[in-house]
Amino acid sequence: MIVNGPVVRVWGIGAIVASAFAGALLLAAATPVGAQAPAPDPEDVKEGMSIYRSKADCQTCHGWAADGRKMDTQMPDAPNLRTTRLGRAGILYAIRCGRPGRGMPAFDRQAYKDPSRCNNTTEADLQKNNLDLVTPAATLQPREIEMVADFLFAKAIGKGALDTRAKCVEYWGEEQDVCDELK
Ligand code: HEC
Repeated sequence: MIVNGPVVRVWGIGAIVASAFAGALLLAAATPVGAQAPAPDPEDVKEGMSIYRSKADCQTCHGWAADGRKMDTQMPDAPNLRTTRLGRAGILYAIRCGRPGRGMPAFDRQAYKDPSRCNNTTEADLQKNNLDLVTPAATLQPREIEMVADFLFAKAIGKGALDTRAKCVEYWGEEQDVCDELK
C-alpha cells in the first residue's frame, strides 16, 4: 500500500493534467481565433435584427444600418453603433437601462424599478436628478436584448461603414431597394 501510494498519486495528477489539456483543446476549437465569444447562432442574429428594426424600433434613431443616420428626423440624434467602443456588457447595459436624460430609452421593463437592474439606480433617483427617460416602442425580455447584441456584434459593430451595394445585400441577407442607392 505504501509503495503504491505515490504511484497512484502520479497517475492521478497525470490524468488531471491530461484532461485539463483536452479541455483546453476543446475550448480552443469552439472559440474562433481573435473572437471573445463563440459565434452567435445565426437564428439569434436574424431575430435580433428583426427586433432592432421592428419591435424595439432602434432604427428610428440609430438608422437601419446602425450607423446613426436616423430614419425619423423628429427623433434625437443617436450615435453610430458601428464605431462604438463598448464591449458586450456595455451594449447590454445601454439597451437594458438606456441613457436617462440623453434620449436613449431603457428597454428592460424592470429598469429602475428593480434596483439590481441598473446599477442600483431607481426611478426616484432619476426624478431627483431631473433625468427623463424616453419611452421605448416596446420593452424587451433579457433574452431579446441578448439577441439584439448578437445582431449588432455580428453585423454592425466594428464592421466598418456600410458603403457598398455588396455589403448592403450581405447585411440584409437579400436584395433590398435601399442597397440600389449604393455603388
Ligand atoms: C428614441 C431614440 C432612440 C432609440 C429608439 C434607441 N436609441 Fe440607442 N441611443 C439614443 C441616443 C440619443 C443615444 C446616445 C445617448 C448618450 O448621449 O449617451 C443612444 C445610445 C445608444 C448606445 C450607446 C452607444 C455608445 O457607444 O455609447 C447603444 C449601444 C444603443 N443606443 C443601442 C440601441 C439599441 C440596440 C436600440 C433598440 C433596442 C436603441 N439604441 C434605441 C437614441 C435611441
